[in-house]
Amino acid sequence: MSSAHNRVAVMHGVNLDTLGRRDPEIYGTETLSQLEYRIHGYARELDLEASFFQTNHEGEFCEYMHRVPGTADAVLVNAGAWTHYSWAIRDALEVAGKPAVEVHISDVESRDDWRAISVFDGLVAAKISGKGIEGYREGLQVLARELGV
Ligand code: DQA
Repeated sequence: MSSAHNRVAVMHGVNLDTLGRRDPEIYGTETLSQLEYRIHGYARELDLEASFFQTNHEGEFCEYMHRVPGTADAVLVNAGAWTHYSWAIRDALEVAGKPAVEVHISDVESRDDWRAISVFDGLVAAKISGKGIEGYREGLQVLARELGV
């Protein structure tokens, strides 16, 4: 069943379109479409409606984020490497002004030092990393609570 404030924009950034063939030991073997299908199911279980977006172009990512206030009530974001340096995307998320959770498939804290840095610090309700696809379910649970769904 759909409630008034239950729309979650699930946004994947740069290189996440290569899931399935990209370093499977770190990122697993599921493709982005398979991952999105699973997230769609997790969302339904929580009475959330997920919509999906992926791009390798930073400006397009920002422009999609600019449209979020009219299209979604919350954001689940895995911005890939942009997470670690794109202040433009941080600003765009701030402009969106919606509850947000940051997810990473891999454990960004225990890899290269630069991956431990996130431009989303202080802006997101939670940062979930190293839990694989399950991390998205956890992220949606946090957003469901934030939205009161
Ligand atoms: C990632 C981690 C980032 O450091 C990396 O650049 C990615 C994917 C993850 O999901 O684990 O592209 O966000």
